[in-house]
Amino acid sequence: MEARDVPVSIPALATEPQFAQRLREHLEREQLLDRHYRLQKVQGGHVALPVLEEKLSQLWLPQEMPCDLVQIQDPVPSRGVRRQTPAQKLREELRQLLGESWSEELERDVPRAWQRHGDLVLLSEDSFRAAQWENLGPVLWETVASALGAQRLARQGRVSPDGMRSPSVSLLLGQDGWVEHVDNGIRYTFDVTKCMFSAGNIREKLRVASLPCSGEVLVDLYAGIGYFTLPFLVHAEAAFAHACEWNGHAVEALRRNLALNGVQDRCHVHHGDSRQLELQDVADRVNLGLIPSSEEGWPVACRVLKKSTGGVLHIHHNVESLPVPASSQTPVLQAEQGSPEAANCDGEVQDPKEDRGKETLGARIRPEWQTWAEATAARIQELLVELHGQLWCTSILHIEPVKSYAPHVHHLVLDLECRPMLST
Ligand SMILES: C[S@@+](CC[C@H](N)C(=O)[O-])C[C@H]1O[C@@H](n2cnc3c(N)ncnc32)[C@H](O)[C@@H]1O
Repeated sequence: MEARDVPVSIPALATEPQFAQRLREHLEREQLLDRHYRLQKVQGGHVALPVLEEKLSQLWLPQEMPCDLVQIQDPVPSRGVRRQTPAQKLREELRQLLGESWSEELERDVPRAWQRHGDLVLLSEDSFRAAQWENLGPVLWETVASALGAQRLARQGRVSPDGMRSPSVSLLLGQDGWVEHVDNGIRYTFDVTKCMFSAGNIREKLRVASLPCSGEVLVDLYAGIGYFTLPFLVHAEAAFAHACEWNGHAVEALRRNLALNGVQDRCHVHHGDSRQLELQDVADRVNLGLIPSSEEGWPVACRVLKKSTGGVLHIHHNVESLPVPASSQTPVLQAEQGSPEAANCDGEVQDPKEDRGKETLGARIRPEWQTWAEATAARIQELLVELHGQLWCTSILHIEPVKSYAPHVHHLVLDLECRPMLST
């Protein structure tokens, strides 16, 4: 929808061409000129200058400016308005709404960026905080929504540290916060006021979608609304998924998303604490998508792996690394190369050349990442041996930097292959 629907007619002051410039300057000074529309020639060779309807009552004209109040039929939007970015348009509409009370402080409070979820716009936490906005009442949110071409508005709060990643989003305009996204061909719906949207994980979602999981059973210990469960089922062709999630709102969205994508029959949703998951010996693959650390889920992940064949764990973790001066940076290291832990379960070290095609900016492995991956591989191996009472080996398949989480802190995913060792 266009932010401002073009009305059939608007009020304007018609004057003779020789007075038009002076009249324009007067209207601009008095903030009465409606800049959304062009000046127009009207009957009698007069020029009509659009005026703001809501300010007609404030209209006064010096006597030396002869003019008549007329209506312009089918007004033409001004070029400036047509070229305006949504952020400019928003500021302009608000400036018009506030009139003389407009101030630099208010201007700083107007957001320049926002998240768009279909017809719902999610504003940042720090927008429209000045007390003056509140005095405007509902017309403020109607104006903002109209300027941004939205039907519904919400504002972000802090993600609460309650372990459920619940957002404190409040709905400012509209009946509910349910939105729909299509991401890599998969449909997701969720309530923005109740579930977190992790836009930064797109890279990892695309990567899991491309993994060859045909015929496999996946256990997703922190399923959320299904951001990883769904690509595993829809694109990576996992045969079945067990998706565990303790947040009821996320579970509701997850169930809807499985149905929206027609894979509800290939997923069992476990609503509850994944540490209490009553499953064992079922999985070829386990996704542990929890940051800053998924360590609490490692024992369960080891327990659910198939005893006889093992599988792959995708372990998410935030890892801090020291800032490295550009001059002393070590050459690119691929996680797949080098260390004994990078050997596969047959004891073979993969040929580094095989993986060169994957070398991207994100594939630069820092020493701290490698150290963390090796410590994790060792700890998981211990857990597997303790749990299953037989020897297991673990090998680092890949380290994926998903995103920069904070200065010098990266959200990583370690793909760890875990196999039982055959006794001789
Ligand atoms: C960071 S979110 C990621 C969700 C999902 N991977 C995504 O990207 O949408 C982690 C999810 O794990 C859930 N969670 C955290 N601890 C849990 C636990 N012990 N048992 C079940 N779910 C848990 C949270 O409610 C949240 O939905």
